[in-house]
Amino acid sequence: VSTNSFYLEMCGSRGRPDAIAICHAALRSVLRPGSFAVDATAGNGHDTVMLAEAVGPQGGVLALDIQQGALDATRTRHAASGCAATLETLLAGHERMADAEFRARWPDRPSAIVFNLGYLPGGDHALTTCTSTTLPALRGALVWVAPGGFVAIVCYPGHPAGATEAAEVENFAASLPSAGFAVSVHKSINTARPAPFTLLIQRLPVKTS
Ligand SMILES: C[S@@+](CC[C@H](N)C(=O)[O-])C[C@H]1O[C@@H](n2cnc3c(N)ncnc32)[C@H](O)[C@@H]1O
Repeated sequence: VSTNSFYLEMCGSRGRPDAIAICHAALRSVLRPGSFAVDATAGNGHDTVMLAEAVGPQGGVLALDIQQGALDATRTRHAASGCAATLETLLAGHERMADAEFRARWPDRPSAIVFNLGYLPGGDHALTTCTSTTLPALRGALVWVAPGGFVAIVCYPGHPAGATEAAEVENFAASLPSAGFAVSVHKSINTARPAPFTLLIQRLPVKTS
């Protein structure tokens, strides 16, 4: 039995479904050449480069992080990728997305906003995302994202703080009205420790009939 391209895309390079590969596959499904996308947790720039490749030379990516080092790493990775999409970086907490002034500064609605929660691998574990800012940021992201677009969140429940944040984010997503949002969760469930998982929230397109 051989696996098809859908399954292989969900597995990334790891041979079994992988939270980040699933997240990227979902975002690629909604991004088009020329789209605008937002990386709410730039970190080392892997997600930014995926977004930049998906939106292409006519597209743009805004990447936020609270650490200048993360934004520098993101710019370096983007430059090395050779991808011509416009990249703007912003040293700011993603909770700023809840501010109307912030959204007025970027009048285009993004087709996709990605959150990759937790701390920078190899960095200071104290500089981690936390529920008190993640939830306001998600509320802002859901107001800002274009109808039909995705807000994708990769959660890491494998350690106590990550488990608390993941549970609160999942509860928040589960409480969203089904008339406005399609919410799904994608995770491996037969793992030794709770595996990272992906929450996908699609802001449903407005019906015109
Ligand atoms: C798991 S890392 C992100 C990985 C990254 N997307 C990548 O592809 O390499 C989480 C990042 O979130 C950042 N972060 C923590 N709190 C934040 C906040 N309130 N707003 C924006 N970024 C935040 C951290 O500084 C860290 O770089």
